Amino acid sequence: MMTPPFPQSFPATRLRRLRQAGWVRSLTAENILTPADLVWSMVVHDGETPHIPVEAMPGVERFNVAEAAAAAKRAAGLGIPAIAIFPHIDPARKDEEGSEGLNPDGLIPTCIKAMKDAAPDVGIICDVALDPFTSHGHDGLIDAAGYVLNDETTAVLTEQALVQAEAGADVVAPSDMMDGRIGAIRSALEEEGHTNTMILSYAAKYASGFYGPYREAIGSATALIGDKKTYQQDPANTEEALREVAMDIAEGADMVMVKPGLPYLDIVRRVSETFAIPTLAFQVSGEYAMIQAASQNGWIDGERVMMETLLSFKRAGASGIVTYFAEQAAQKLD
Ligand code: PBG
Repeated sequence: MMTPPFPQSFPATRLRRLRQAGWVRSLTAENILTPADLVWSMVVHDGETPHIPVEAMPGVERFNVAEAAAAAKRAAGLGIPAIAIFPHIDPARKDEEGSEGLNPDGLIPTCIKAMKDAAPDVGIICDVALDPFTSHGHDGLIDAAGYVLNDETTAVLTEQALVQAEAGADVVAPSDMMDGRIGAIRSALEEEGHTNTMILSYAAKYASGFYGPYREAIGSATALIGDKKTYQQDPANTEEALREVAMDIAEGADMVMVKPGLPYLDIVRRVSETFAIPTLAFQVSGEYAMIQAASQNGWIDGERVMMETLLSFKRAGASGIVTYFAEQAAQKLD
């Protein structure tokens, strides 16, 4: 890149010349958003009802297995390359250890199979974490004081990732922030012959208020005891994010994620510039909810803001965006 000073003086240079018409704006656009940049963040549930609206996320519905399979077909038609699925299970199936997360006949394995049958070319990404399955809403196992145990949790997450890989998940995506889990999961996948199962590490994941609506979506809102600050990152930190990413790459991550998205674009930029690895950004539930709420009130043009935020992730250097807007945005781009 050329660094100033270089000759740019008015009126020889009028930057507005390049903005005068659509064709020249397109020609000179530095970034572009396409459906291939989107990962559809999708909530699935283990009941019969085809779709159940999520109140805090207008426009988002929990799908049953059949609807999730139908949605995977729609994703294929729209050119959306992958879907990230998140489970909402019957609270009666939750326990302290989150053991339903290891059930090979549970909601996620069932969904993976149905979705792969319906749309074999759409990538399926599975969250590796225990919070949708634990009675206390934490991502891992807790001790008597409620502290989330690292190594014990990693052992369970490794089992969970194997169950998902076994069911046909293309990508396992640990979102729990335990130390050492990427290495443990990679070794187990290799040992069991899942050498092509990819790992997308939620490497830089912050303890964020923006996950609020998600907790309603997966039904862990009422369950959560305390907060996640002893395992997720402090929003004050940048250097720590780079260390997290470096370690996860060393342990075998194929792709990394920064989460939340919009308030952390600086982290997306730093990570994508520092490491030669695909970097995804997660436009999380609270980001989605804010746009929808303002839009419903007539305070912003929701569709325009949706597209603008999605493009901003590309501008920051993201190779892809996990978003609840994926279907709507892909339709608009079509
Ligand atoms: C938990 C997990 C969370 C999200 C994805 N996986 C919430 C949390 O860490 O508390 C949030 C997604 C969203 O807000 O859209 N493992």
